[in-house]
Amino acid sequence: MQSSQEQAIIQAASRLAQGELVAFPTETVYGLGADAENPRAVNKIYQAKGRPANHPVIVHVAPGADLSYWAKNIPEEANKLIKAFWPGPLTLILQRASHIPDTVSGGQDSVGVRCPSHPVAQALLQQFARLKPSGQGGVAAPSANKFGQVSPTLAEHVISEFPEEIARGMPVLEGGATEIGIESTIIDLSRIQQGVKAVLLRPGHISREQIKQVLGYPPLLPDNHAPRASGTLKAHYAPRTPLALITAKGLEAGQVLGQVPPGQKWAVCVFNKNSQADMAGIDWFQVSSEPVQYAHDLYAFLRKVDSLGYQRIYIQTLPEDERWDAVNDRLQRAAAAFP
Ligand code: TXA
Ligand code: MG
Repeated sequence: MQSSQEQAIIQAASRLAQGELVAFPTETVYGLGADAENPRAVNKIYQAKGRPANHPVIVHVAPGADLSYWAKNIPEEANKLIKAFWPGPLTLILQRASHIPDTVSGGQDSVGVRCPSHPVAQALLQQFARLKPSGQGGVAAPSANKFGQVSPTLAEHVISEFPEEIARGMPVLEGGATEIGIESTIIDLSRIQQGVKAVLLRPGHISREQIKQVLGYPPLLPDNHAPRASGTLKAHYAPRTPLALITAKGLEAGQVLGQVPPGQKWAVCVFNKNSQADMAGIDWFQVSSEPVQYAHDLYAFLRKVDSLGYQRIYIQTLPEDERWDAVNDRLQRAAAAFP
């Protein structure tokens, strides 16, 4: 007998094969998926998210999938990184195989590919590939949130964000709270043959240092010719409540936080709540002083603050240490949405 989750996965895979959307958990954040080889299905993702059509989406594949089905001229660097980090939170940008639709790559000649480690994602991808005549199936999926908003780390985040799609029968596979909580690290390898080394397009749980260990050199920072990535837009990953960063000195001086207008409530997020004095209009929240845990909690925290009706969020600036790069990147972009 099949468990109800196995049944849900089988049904979700057949919906994908019919060109419909499915939301599913990964170890990073929940994804909003469609058959990567069906341009009409991929267009439904853009419509649901309200995302501009020139932004490429990542193709998710099952463990052991044939990468040469999706990409061409695959460099040795890709094999090294795959051996070290797949399945897991690493997306590789490669030269796209010619049958990959334009809609997936946002019109660029590259394709982003990732093999997630979440068991529900893997089961969905395996089942979907079985339904394809070629035996190769890929699920194009951005994070399952409206364009520019905070990524979902719980199934209920997806359910509250896409009421129309849910009403039309879109399944949201349950996978609990996502383990990592921020999006995958993205490494661009699409220009290796032109002599451009690996480029870090988006920092994530897999750090620059770990990539360096495997490649033997640190990945470069993006230049003007690097492939476009919406997660690399300046203002992205933002909550609805205006967010700003505040230094420890700024907290101590109390100048900013001493100005809460009557009737307003501000949320202030610090590493040590106990060291803060009571202040009118301020609610203190404590966050982890450990970067992996911080990343895990960040998006759920931002969504919680949004739901509690605060007028502003202040977040204490992070330590200047490479281990904080990925969360720092997300916070800087969130704050940039509120200049
Ligand atoms: O962890 C993740 O990567 C999650 C889960 C669902 O897998 N997905 C995710 O997707 O964060 P999304 O669309 O929110 O962000 C994917 C990023 C975007 O910044 C997109 O522009 C970039 O990957 N990307 C995808 N394909 C690309 C390509 N061919 N060239 C350059 N960037 C690409
Ligand atoms: Mg996203």
